[in-house]
Amino acid sequence: MKKSLLLALVAMITFSTFANGQKEDGKIVIGANIYSFADNFMNGVIKPELETYAPSKGVEIQIVDSEGQQAKLNDQVDVFITKGVDVLAINLVDPAAAQAIINKARAAKIPLILFNKEATEPGVMDSYDKVWYVGTDSAEAGIIQGQMMVKDWKANPSWDKNGDGVVQYVLLKGEPGHPDAEARTVESVKAFRDAGIEVEQLALEADPNWSTVHGNDKMAAWLTSSFGSDIELVIANNDGMAFGAITAQKAAGVRLPIYGVDALAQALTHIADGEMDGTVLNDGVNQARATVDLAINAAMGKNVTEGTNWKVQTNGTKAVRVPYVAVTKDNYMDFK
Ligand code: BGC
Ligand code: CA
Repeated sequence: MKKSLLLALVAMITFSTFANGQKEDGKIVIGANIYSFADNFMNGVIKPELETYAPSKGVEIQIVDSEGQQAKLNDQVDVFITKGVDVLAINLVDPAAAQAIINKARAAKIPLILFNKEATEPGVMDSYDKVWYVGTDSAEAGIIQGQMMVKDWKANPSWDKNGDGVVQYVLLKGEPGHPDAEARTVESVKAFRDAGIEVEQLALEADPNWSTVHGNDKMAAWLTSSFGSDIELVIANNDGMAFGAITAQKAAGVRLPIYGVDALAQALTHIADGEMDGTVLNDGVNQARATVDLAINAAMGKNVTEGTNWKVQTNGTKAVRVPYVAVTKDNYMDFK
């Protein structure tokens, strides 16, 4: 065979296998992103698990950093589609911008798994039969965190520094509009009211990056503010922000009751050291695994939960929701 003919053949085969969306070796390719590699939870838990679990299932995963920019993510999705990936696993930057991504996946006939940031536009998940969500029940983290705080508040009368029976709290919210941030903010405080305990919010600050730097800056500012000495409780919607608040408290020589969400390794250390009172396990390992399992099944045109233990909820959104777990000084060892 002539060399030129051989080259043409090779090119044809390569093109046709890529056009099919599968690589020459038949391996499934998942095109994935993380909304920001700077996020403690996404970068520390979800990303490493995606990177190890996908290859263990015989598939390739490509993970890009969307750097907190939805416009960048839209472009990254275009590139994945042009490359011919078999399935998309997308961590929205803006939970209100799912439709654009869904439209792209539908036009390219590629299944789509959204994970960690649930779409907030109404009906958006019904606009494509090949889109699913993997995450949690957002409210559950707030409920568990709230119940934990109520229990400890009741057990520690000295926490009510001014003795008025009311909880004077500050709250680090995280990203405005993020279903996890919104629901946690409501539910944690509601737990007190449900238990018949009054609360008073002294301050609340949001941060789209859920960051440690933000937690530090805000806590430091609060402690030196006019209400600084009135604060009785610090509620952080994630551990990353709590870490910053702990540093600020140490710098100011105070130790206020403080709770987070995620159960990152550093949070377990803070609990062990008596610097933090509790957190809630946000099971990123299982969320990453569910994302990959659903992606593989979807790419193969199978029922997404086939051969797995995941359950897609039947009422509401097509979603797999991984449960949260309370983590306190009594059980943190189990999560190391
Ligand atoms: C986590 C946060 C994280 C956020 C990112 C939440 O579920 O608790 O730590 O920053 O997801 O979307
Ligand atoms: Ca009080």
